[in-house]
Amino acid sequence: MVIHEPIILGFEGTAHTAGVAVTQGKKIIFNKTATYLPEHGGIHPREASEFLSKNFPILLEQMVYETPFGMKKIDAVAFSQGPGLGPCLRMTATIARAISLLLKKPLIGVNHCIAHVELGRMVTPAYDPMVLYVSGGNTQLIAFLNGRYRILGETLDIAIGNALDTLGRSLGLPHPGGPHIEQEAKNGKNVLPLPYAIKGMSFSFSGVVTAAQKLISKHEVADICYSFQEYTFAALTEATERALSCTKKPSVLLTGGVAANTRLQEMVQGVASEQSTKYYVVPKNLAGDNGAMIALAGVNMYKKNNFISVNHSHVKPRWRTDQVEVNWIH
Ligand code: ATP
Ligand code: FE2
Repeated sequence: MVIHEPIILGFEGTAHTAGVAVTQGKKIIFNKTATYLPEHGGIHPREASEFLSKNFPILLEQMVYETPFGMKKIDAVAFSQGPGLGPCLRMTATIARAISLLLKKPLIGVNHCIAHVELGRMVTPAYDPMVLYVSGGNTQLIAFLNGRYRILGETLDIAIGNALDTLGRSLGLPHPGGPHIEQEAKNGKNVLPLPYAIKGMSFSFSGVVTAAQKLISKHEVADICYSFQEYTFAALTEATERALSCTKKPSVLLTGGVAANTRLQEMVQGVASEQSTKYYVVPKNLAGDNGAMIALAGVNMYKKNNFISVNHSHVKPRWRTDQVEVNWIH
């Protein structure tokens, strides 16, 4: 018997990235993004939502022309329902609702953080991993336990990506600072003293940023970047090691935008091998926000009928990972 794998249209739009994707089962058929880059400082929610409103129709049109079946075979429409910036979430939800009504296909509300995890589970062999999810807005240690993804540890203040971007701005590096700090750090030779903040399996980064900012103009940029990565990534890795020894999960999965960092990959891989645990990382082109993660989470949710009606599709700006009932893992 041939089982038809569901074809899902996914919309990502929690903050800076407009993402449209089509997936069939684990196969990514189409996946394109457009990313809003603020001229100065951080993201302005209204400007970001205007950016999304301009770019979703362009991406959708490309999808129609570049996939073999366009809109014709879509089984359901998935969208990022939260967490994220209110105006961006509302824009994304409006488009997803309209397409779902137009196609008369069910609507699936996906939690953005869980989508990073589901993408990792779909594109790597990880099935029940200890997840280190590191991005611009979130930093969490997540594991599946008793029907939900539980947060075992998380940042007590700002996310690691936000910390890297803030330091990058202070150093005069282009936005987002994360990849530029990684390049600078490769030439660093001296470890400068910085605070090391870890509490149980949680961590904090704002104090390290302030301390690193105080080193600017007194030390080489490369040494500051190198030291910042060593201290913050060591805290993340130590917490991952504790979580692993508590849960005895069979694998570690590194996901989220900061997962693209090779130094962090090396450190997490080291811990996995010490704990005799398998190590997986999402490919660089899928580490940051994208539509495929929403569509792939949608595939798993579709199979267990996790649909919502348009009337109940209000956005959830503060939706936590552990508030979602996960009925698609056994
Ligand atoms: P979320 O909503 O899940 O918090 P996000 O909005 O931060 O996601 P992502 O695309 O997942 O978006 O992550 C972006 C972050 O990843 C930025 O902070 C960026 O600096 C960081 N990043 C990207 N590449 C690297 C890298 N090579 N090294 C370190 N950080 C990186
Ligand atoms: Fe993200």
